[in-house]
Amino acid sequence: MTESTLFSPLRLPTFETSNRIFMAPMTRGRAHADGTPSDMMVDYYASRADAGLLITEGVCISPRARGWVGAPSIYTADHVRGWQAVTDAVHARGGRIFAQLWFLGRVSHPIFLDGELPWAPSAITPKQHVHSPTGETLDCVEPHAMTVEEIAATIAEYGVAARLAIDAGFDGVEIHAANGYLPDQFLRDRTNQRQDGYGGSVGNRIRFLREIVEECSKAIDGNRVAVRVSPRNLYNDIDDSDPETLFGTFADDMNRFGLAFIEVVEGLPGHYLFVDGAPVLPVMRSAYRGLIVANGGYTSDIAEQAIADGAADAVAFGTPFISNPDLVKRFEIDAPLNAADPSTFYSAGPHGYLDYPDLSQGTAEAEFKPLSLGEARKH
Ligand SMILES: Cc1cc2nc3c(=O)[nH]c(=O)nc-3n(C[C@H](O)[C@H](O)[C@H](O)COP(=O)(O)O)c2cc1C
Repeated sequence: MTESTLFSPLRLPTFETSNRIFMAPMTRGRAHADGTPSDMMVDYYASRADAGLLITEGVCISPRARGWVGAPSIYTADHVRGWQAVTDAVHARGGRIFAQLWFLGRVSHPIFLDGELPWAPSAITPKQHVHSPTGETLDCVEPHAMTVEEIAATIAEYGVAARLAIDAGFDGVEIHAANGYLPDQFLRDRTNQRQDGYGGSVGNRIRFLREIVEECSKAIDGNRVAVRVSPRNLYNDIDDSDPETLFGTFADDMNRFGLAFIEVVEGLPGHYLFVDGAPVLPVMRSAYRGLIVANGGYTSDIAEQAIADGAADAVAFGTPFISNPDLVKRFEIDAPLNAADPSTFYSAGPHGYLDYPDLSQGTAEAEFKPLSLGEARKH
């Protein structure tokens, strides 16, 4: 058998990707205020369509899921129509695209929720802040600990959002269970201190996410559902006393669903998401029989090696895709990469969004470097 490379196709359960260079989900804050995708977003995703798979920025599944200025949503007919324009443009260029389903939970703020408290597994205030629509920085508040009925209602909303995503033309969905947002808040013992069937043991803490996966698998085929986790990530004031056991058990548990893939975010040494401790990716790799996508500071060389070694089946690139719409081509011919400008990551308008040069326009002066700690507001 010939060895797989970054440029080998990858057989997902429902289609084959043209390469193993995936675009990582990245919030860019360019949607309309009501969460409808803008025309700029159509161009942004379409111009990156030669990625093996595009994963969208976090997309809020319901009004209560919100908490980020300019983030898109998927719960109204307008949202679906807006996303249809994105998926049509990506498909017209031969690309494939998954929607990342997002619920912020305790790191939202009443300002986004019509004055109501954010929901969370437990009433523990995050040491975190939000940026309001009018530009103020506001401290997070003590969230409301969800009742079992509210948990059930939220799980049902994930299923509805997954269905709407398929109606909008997406090839699948990725459940955002990483980076300290709601499903991650249930997974990790710093944020989940419940005494009922959704807290305590590892099995109980996995339950919320498993039931979301189950619900989405019923709503659309399980093989169009992916999950993203970040086992050691501390962003959003989150942590766990034993990530190896938690995420190893989670990975094993996922074998029962024919998922599209599991994406594992773990910063490589030197990367802004790096956290001390042995990587959890190999533990998950040996526990899980399906496809694994790795992310967190990969260069094309390191990614190539990870695929050759069998450490992952594909690699998702985040910041390199922000500043290089033609990243796949640049990797292919080993061209230099444009540097990414963090000051425009979440700004409004086309600057820093649609105006990075492609190869025909040359390469920007500065050279691409992985972000250092504090350079980006991490997810
Ligand atoms: C501007 C920006 C926005 C991000 N938004 C999201 C997001 O919406 N969902 C998510 O899961 N991760 C998000 N992330 C994290 C990235 O997906 C990725 O994990 C991170 O950038 C590390 O990969 P990289 O080194 O290739 O950039 C974001 C990162 C950046 C820089």
